[in-house]
Amino acid sequence: MRNSSGVAREASDTIEEVRVHARALEDEGRLGLTRSFIQHGSESVYAHVLSVALLSASIADRCRRIGIRIDRSSLIRGALLHDYFLYDWHDPDPDHRLHGFRHPYIALERATEDFDLTDCERDIIVHHMFPLVPLPPTCREAWIVCIADKCCAIRETVAGRLSSRVSGVIRGRRT
Ligand SMILES: [Fe+2]
Ligand SMILES: [Fe+2]
Repeated sequence: MRNSSGVAREASDTIEEVRVHARALEDEGRLGLTRSFIQHGSESVYAHVLSVALLSASIADRCRRIGIRIDRSSLIRGALLHDYFLYDWHDPDPDHRLHGFRHPYIALERATEDFDLTDCERDIIVHHMFPLVPLPPTCREAWIVCIADKCCAIRETVAGRLSSRVSGVIRGRRT
């Protein structure tokens, strides 16, 4: 049985592992651009994909403990690239219409321009919006990212709404 220092070591190893992959994708491609686009609330797309990759890796750790094999490199890279659409989806440009439905395909196209992707990474990117896009993931890594993405999106949206309500209350008190 693992003690609390073992759990903390595993968590910090996972954070470092995700950072190494993110740095490589920034150096080799355009992941750095995602730092300047907002995803949910006040979170950048970069912060969002990092959170999704971290949560996916921690789900993968749990799977490994019960004997389920996971392609860890594809899982983390796919999670980091799942929203690689590289534009501000809040911008009312007609090209960004139906963002929710179209962005997995745009992300796949952009990621393919910059990287050699595994089949698993492609699956993660193109199916992460299931069930909004009614094509389910076909590998377990893509299921993990699909679930982690929803958990992170809900957390970021709720946190963003709470913080804007709190700052509204604070502003109201000051005036
Ligand atoms: Fe997405
Ligand atoms: Fe996402």
